[in-house]
Amino acid sequence: MEPDMILVTGGAGFIGANFVLDWLAAADEAVVNLDALTYAGNMENLARLQGDARHVFVHGDICDRALVDRLLAEHRPRAILHFAAESHVDRSIHGPAAFVRTNVEGTFTLLEAARAYWNTLDAAGQAAFRFLHVSTDEVYGSLGPEDPPFAETKAYEPNSPYSASKAASDHLVRAWHHTYGLPVLTTNCSNNYGPYQFPEKLIPLVIANALAGKPLPIYGDGMNVRDWLYVGDHCAAIREVLARGRLGETYNVGGWNEMPNIDIVRTICALLDELRPDPAGPHARLISYVQDRPGHDRRYAIDARKIERELGWRPAETFASGIRKTVAWYLTNQDWVAHVQSGAYRDWIAANYAGREVGA
Ligand code: NAD
Ligand code: DAU
Repeated sequence: MEPDMILVTGGAGFIGANFVLDWLAAADEAVVNLDALTYAGNMENLARLQGDARHVFVHGDICDRALVDRLLAEHRPRAILHFAAESHVDRSIHGPAAFVRTNVEGTFTLLEAARAYWNTLDAAGQAAFRFLHVSTDEVYGSLGPEDPPFAETKAYEPNSPYSASKAASDHLVRAWHHTYGLPVLTTNCSNNYGPYQFPEKLIPLVIANALAGKPLPIYGDGMNVRDWLYVGDHCAAIREVLARGRLGETYNVGGWNEMPNIDIVRTICALLDELRPDPAGPHARLISYVQDRPGHDRRYAIDARKIERELGWRPAETFASGIRKTVAWYLTNQDWVAHVQSGAYRDWIAANYAGREVGA
């Protein structure tokens, strides 16, 4: 019998790379990693795995059905873990087409390839197979200040091109289970932070800008609330859902850690003041309010009781411990940050932030 292995999509991105690194640190089951290496994919995230025969990297697109068919036939994975996506809300506002292509068409392509492959398996192989779809809490829409956190039963109300494309992909995954019996699982997670996050997202952007003495852009009034989860905890939740999740179910994953953006930024500034003081003054002097994100969701919060009740998962990190680790990681990995701040990165920063100063 062939040894077990899993196929991961998007494993050169932030969460996918953390997942692959954690997976191979804990077990010997090999990983085929399919990633298109868009601006967000980075082989440096996987540098530790160079020469490791348990990691097979394939540079390719999830929309390429022939390639996905070939990988499934060749490697015969017992599971597909689908992380690949266009993931940045602001980019989805500037250019939604790539989001529909990768998040909707790409997920459809994977589901069809998975279905064809699954149909070739014997009864035991079919029963063991899993398609785990990694999704987001943003599909549920925006909460008012007094609303209860998102439970799995909450109606979908996506507001951005990003969240709409993820919602569409979630619906496809659900339908492939109900119609074709494909053994799927879906996770809907809140905002992640941690090592290897691309500095377009709030936390790494603020760390990188603060270290460079650049303005720390706060959209709107800085009181939008997110529920922050350390990436290693998200990866642990995905492993639990893969191992013991009930087929066809969705599991919400969150940190029980709602915080307004301005508090996140002030926490980072205080940590940097402690760990890397700036002779020019406290890092908070760089805080700069800018025009709001169009359609900016006000509040997200996750009710993570189902995954705790059924699978015993809870976050191991508090925000205080996770953000300290994260800031320390960026301080010791400034080469990584410098490498990803390429010409294309600078073009994005100019496109998103130029002329956005309040009053401009
Ligand atoms: P990311 O943008 O850092 O990485 C995405 C990866 O997918 C990159 O390596 C990229 O090269 C790859 N990719 C993009 N298009 C592809 C294509 N067509 N074919 C193959 N690979 C492609 O994203 P992330 O933050 O790591 O998010 C991973 C997943 O988790 C996404 O599905 C996202 O919706 C979901 N998610 C993210 C968060 C978060 O806070 N970052 C929270 C909840 C859920
Ligand atoms: O909730 C899960 C989602 O979290 C994931 O599905 C997405 O892939 C991920 O990008 C993230 O989406 P957000 O839009 O919440 O993350 P972002 O880091 O872009 O922004 C976090 C908050 O900070 C949000 O309220 C917008 C605000 N913000 C962001 C940036 C980049 C700022 O105030 N200034 C900024 O410069």
